[in-house]
Amino acid sequence: MVALKAIFLTIASVVAVNADWHISFTYADGGQIESHGFFNSGCINFSKTNSEITTVYFDNNINTDTLELYVGADCRDLAYTAGPGSSNVPDKKYISYKVY
Ligand SMILES: *[C@@H]1O[C@H](CO)[C@@H](O)[C@H](O)[C@H]1NC(C)=O
Repeated sequence: MVALKAIFLTIASVVAVNADWHISFTYADGGQIESHGFFNSGCINFSKTNSEITTVYFDNNINTDTLELYVGADCRDLAYTAGPGSSNVPDKKYISYKVY
C-alpha cells in the first residue's frame, strides 16, 4: 500500500508540474471566455471585444505568473497587470492580452 501511495503521489506531482495555465475572462454582458496553455502565450487578440471585462480568474502554472490586459490590438497600451487568482479588473473593453 505504501508503494502504491508513493506511485500515486509521484503521478500527482508530475501532473501538477505539467499542468496548463487556465484563464477565465468574465464580461459585463455575462459572457465568458476560457483560455489555456502551457508556455507563454505571446500576444493574443480577444475573440470577444463587444463588452467590458469585469473579472479574470488566472490559474497559473510553472511557466507563468503574470497576465497583462491591453486596450489596443497586438498588445499595445497596457492597461492592467494581474497575478494569479481572481482579479476585479478595471471595467474596460480590452482588446488583447498576454500571459507569461
Ligand atoms: C490582432 O489584431 C490586429 C488588428 O486587427 C491584427 O493586425 C493582428 O494581426 C492581430 N494579431 C494577432 C496575433 O492575431
